[in-house]
Amino acid sequence: MTASPHERDLEIDPADAPERATTRLSVRTLKLTDFRNYGGARLDLDARPVVLVGENGSGKTNLLEAVSLLGAGHGLRGRPYAELARHEGQGGFAIAATVRTRHGELDIGTGLVPGVGEDSTGRTVRIAGKDRSAGALGDYVKHVFLIPAMDGLFTGGGSDRRRFLDRLVLAIAPGMRSSLNRYDRAMRQRNRLFQMREHSPSLFEGLEEQMAEAGVAIAAARLDAVDRLSALIEETRAAQGTAPFPHAVLSLHGTLEADLAERSATEAEDAFRILLEEFRDRDRAAARTLEGPHRSDLLVVHGPKNAPAAICSSGEQKALLLGLVLAKAELIKTLEGTAPLVLLDEVAAHLDTRRRKALFDEILRLGVQAWMTGTEPELFSPLAEDAQILAVNRGMIEP
Ligand SMILES: Nc1ncnc2c1ncn2[C@@H]1O[C@H](COP(=O)(O)OP(=O)(O)O)[C@@H](O)[C@H]1O
Ligand SMILES: [Mg+2]
Repeated sequence: MTASPHERDLEIDPADAPERATTRLSVRTLKLTDFRNYGGARLDLDARPVVLVGENGSGKTNLLEAVSLLGAGHGLRGRPYAELARHEGQGGFAIAATVRTRHGELDIGTGLVPGVGEDSTGRTVRIAGKDRSAGALGDYVKHVFLIPAMDGLFTGGGSDRRRFLDRLVLAIAPGMRSSLNRYDRAMRQRNRLFQMREHSPSLFEGLEEQMAEAGVAIAAARLDAVDRLSALIEETRAAQGTAPFPHAVLSLHGTLEADLAERSATEAEDAFRILLEEFRDRDRAAARTLEGPHRSDLLVVHGPKNAPAAICSSGEQKALLLGLVLAKAELIKTLEGTAPLVLLDEVAAHLDTRRRKALFDEILRLGVQAWMTGTEPELFSPLAEDAQILAVNRGMIEP
C-alpha cells in the first residue's frame, strides 16, 4: 500500500492523541456480485464517511446491508441469505472487500454459492484468503447500525430490544455467543420434553443445569455491558452539559439479571436451577420455558425527561436511539482502540438542522467511517469535503 499524502487518508486517526493512535476501520474497496439489486458494482473509497444519495428503491439500504455482512452476524436486516441473491441472478451472491483494520489491510469475501443457498443457512467467509466462520469476521470488522425498522424498538415487543441488547453485549464480549447458543439448545430440548409428555426428572436435571450455567453467564455479560455503556453515557453527559442527543438511562429487567445484582454467580445459578425445577409443571402446561434470560428486557428511560422511552414522541425516541448507537460506537472505540463502522440508514432526514450538524460533528469527532443514506444531497452539505458522496441509482453507484 502506498500512503496517501492527504490527511483524511492517513492510517493514523488524527483525532487521536499520538499515544493512542489507532487505525481507522474503513472499507477501501467493495465489489458486489448479484447482491440484491446489484448485478455487479464496485466502489473505491478512502477512510472518510460515505454518504449514499438516491431515490427510494435505488439500492442504498442494500449497500449498507452488504457492508454489514463484512462483520459477524446476519446483516442489518437479519434476513435469510437466500433472499439476498439477485432475483435475476444464478441464486448466489458475492461481496468482496478490502478493509483497513487494526490488523492491517485485509481482503474479506463473503457470499452464498449458487445452488446450495436454498437449504444451507450459512454463508461462506474468506478472510485474507482463508476460509473462516462468519463469527471470525467480528475480530476484524465491527459495526453499529440504526435503520428505520428499529423505529419501534421502544414500543414493540421485547425480542427486538433483547436482540439490540445482545448485539451490544456481543460487540464487547464475543464469548457470550457460545453461552447464548448453549442456553438456547438446552431450552429447546427441555421444551421438546414437554411436548413429548416426558416426565422423568433425570432428563430435565441435566438440561436445567446447563440452562442455569449458561443463563448466568449471559446475564453477567449483559449486566457488565450495560454498566459500561451507562458509565460512558454518564461521563459524556457530565462533560457536555446539554448534549444534542438525550442521554439514556438503562436498566435490565430479568430474573437472572436481578438476582445477579444481589448475589454471587454460584448462588444465582443454584437459584435458577431450583426455579426451573419448581416451574416444571407450569412450563409443561405452557409447553415452553416461561422464565429465564430469553425473556429479559432492556428498559430505556429518556434521561432529560425522566420518562420511559416508550411514551416519548417518535422524534424523541429516534434521537434517544441515535445517542445510544453512537455511545455504543464510542464504547467499542474505548475498549478496543478502534471505532466500528457506523451504518445509519435514513437518519439525517429525521433530524432538525441543529441535530444533523451535531450528528456530523460527532461522527467526525469519533473518527469513524460512517455510512449514511438519504434521498436529498443537501441534507449532507455540512459535511462537505469531510465525506465521500455517492449517487445510487437502480443498482448503479457513481461518485
Ligand atoms: N434479491 C433481490 N434481487 C433483486 N432486487 C432486489 C432484491 N432484494 C431487494 N431488491 C430490490 O432492491 C431495491 C432497492 O432496495 P433498497 O436498497 O431497500 O432501496 P433504498 O435505496 O430505498 O434503500 C428494491 O426495489 C428491491 O425490490
Ligand atoms: Mg432504504
